[in-house]
Amino acid sequence: MPPTLILRRPFDAHLHLRDGKVLQAVLGETSRDFAQAIVMPNLVPPIVTWRQAEDYRARIVEAVPRGDRFKPLMTLYLTERTDPDDVAAAHASGLVKAVKLYPAGATTNSSSGVRHLERAMPVLERMAEIGLPLCIHGEVTGAEIDIFDREAVFVETILDPLRRRLPDLKVTMEHVTTADCVDYIKEAPAKLAGSITPHHLIINRNAILAGGIKPHYYCLPVAKRERHRLALRAAATSGDSRFFLGTDSAPHVDSMKECACGCAGVFNATNTLSCLAHVFEQEDALEKLEAFASLHASAWYGVPPADETVTLMRQVDPIGQPGKIETGEGQITLFDPMFPLHWAVQR
Ligand code: DOR
Ligand code: ZN
Repeated sequence: MPPTLILRRPFDAHLHLRDGKVLQAVLGETSRDFAQAIVMPNLVPPIVTWRQAEDYRARIVEAVPRGDRFKPLMTLYLTERTDPDDVAAAHASGLVKAVKLYPAGATTNSSSGVRHLERAMPVLERMAEIGLPLCIHGEVTGAEIDIFDREAVFVETILDPLRRRLPDLKVTMEHVTTADCVDYIKEAPAKLAGSITPHHLIINRNAILAGGIKPHYYCLPVAKRERHRLALRAAATSGDSRFFLGTDSAPHVDSMKECACGCAGVFNATNTLSCLAHVFEQEDALEKLEAFASLHASAWYGVPPADETVTLMRQVDPIGQPGKIETGEGQITLFDPMFPLHWAVQR
């Protein structure tokens, strides 16, 4: 019998599904292995209202391949004009599990995001009152701030003051990429957690820039130095319930990545579990994988973990991977961890 891992079916705390043909093409890559996911609202136009989230959820449910059981958990995109009553009603209905803050200009489809946090205060105050988490893309946007410092500067200049002002607000720092942010989360007394992507556990910034420019490793926040990757690995494999999986699987067709101004995003849904098993095995922490991938985020968002399980087996030969996913709008390149994967999800 090969080494075997049985996990509750995972919870992806940060997923981009898009819409239309791309949604149709990528959803099965997640629903094959995952029971549920927090779905990002950065469509064009963004998902701002309860009504829009309801309609988007219906389109996702409709697109789930037959035989898969997958629960999309919806978010709203925070703007300076977001109505606190609409947010509260969307939360009370059970539909919306979090609100997402994109600083305007920080990343893909963030132009409707927040320029002056002060203007979003009434919504944030209401969220603190009703216990609705705020998911944050934590990067400052000023041209004077080096792109590799944007997360650490955000923690110091935006996140910390916000948490002091609204200590009851539950905050998820999305796709943590720095040791600074890991330390900040560990030191926080409560109400703060961080999601971590598979790719930030595997690559550092050399993957993007050394030996030629590699657009498929470019995402935001951009991968940092090796010491940060090691800090993320330590946090993810520690068993600390404040750290959990958010894949940030972000599909872009190749023509939008392989060009003079390529989009940010790594598409990893297809091989996330194989990559994670590899990482946790390297860190001698396979027994912590279920907590990281399936349990911590469901506890944080107050959603029961899946009853069903997924099984991974360690095979001698590397697993086969598709390389590209066809969408009808172009191909999407799958994340290549640059080492062979041996943990195969049993399907
Ligand atoms: O790399 C990224 N891609 N980072 C984000 O924050 C957004 C995402 C996307 O939507 O493509
Ligand atoms: Zn994202």
